[in-house]
Amino acid sequence: MHIHRSEKIWLISGVVSLVVFLAIIGAAAISEGIVPPSHVQTIDPTKVAVTPPFDHPGVRRVGDHAVEAYIVAHIFSFSPSKITVPVGTDVTFYATSPDVVHGFFITDTAVNMMVIPGWVSSAQHRFTTRGTYLLLCNEYCGSGHHYMYGTIEVK
Ligand code: CUA
Repeated sequence: MHIHRSEKIWLISGVVSLVVFLAIIGAAAISEGIVPPSHVQTIDPTKVAVTPPFDHPGVRRVGDHAVEAYIVAHIFSFSPSKITVPVGTDVTFYATSPDVVHGFFITDTAVNMMVIPGWVSSAQHRFTTRGTYLLLCNEYCGSGHHYMYGTIEVK
């Protein structure tokens, strides 16, 4: 197969620029210690089931106007799959995954994070209206991805 000289130059320059861009991103990520947003804590993904507080996931009150919700995202469900939180209270969600990358999106809120094995993702929200909110996985995680959801009851 004959490739014209100008076409070869374009192909080579395309490949070279791709390699240069990836090298710059990789070098910057390593040298700056870049991690995904909202990820501050790390956890051994093989020991999630025995690492407190994820060994007993759920909701706990941490003050008069604050609760914490620890949730494990795994193929293909959330544990616990249903939680109840009080209305008008600051809820801090902590989520981690023992297997693959999942999403953590609560409908009608700005809570939308990636859950990455090895990291604890966290987001805060105050529900101002009572009702049932859906917790959805919005990162494709496998064949059961579309079955992966939970519910948050705000009372
Ligand atoms: Cu978990 Cu998609």
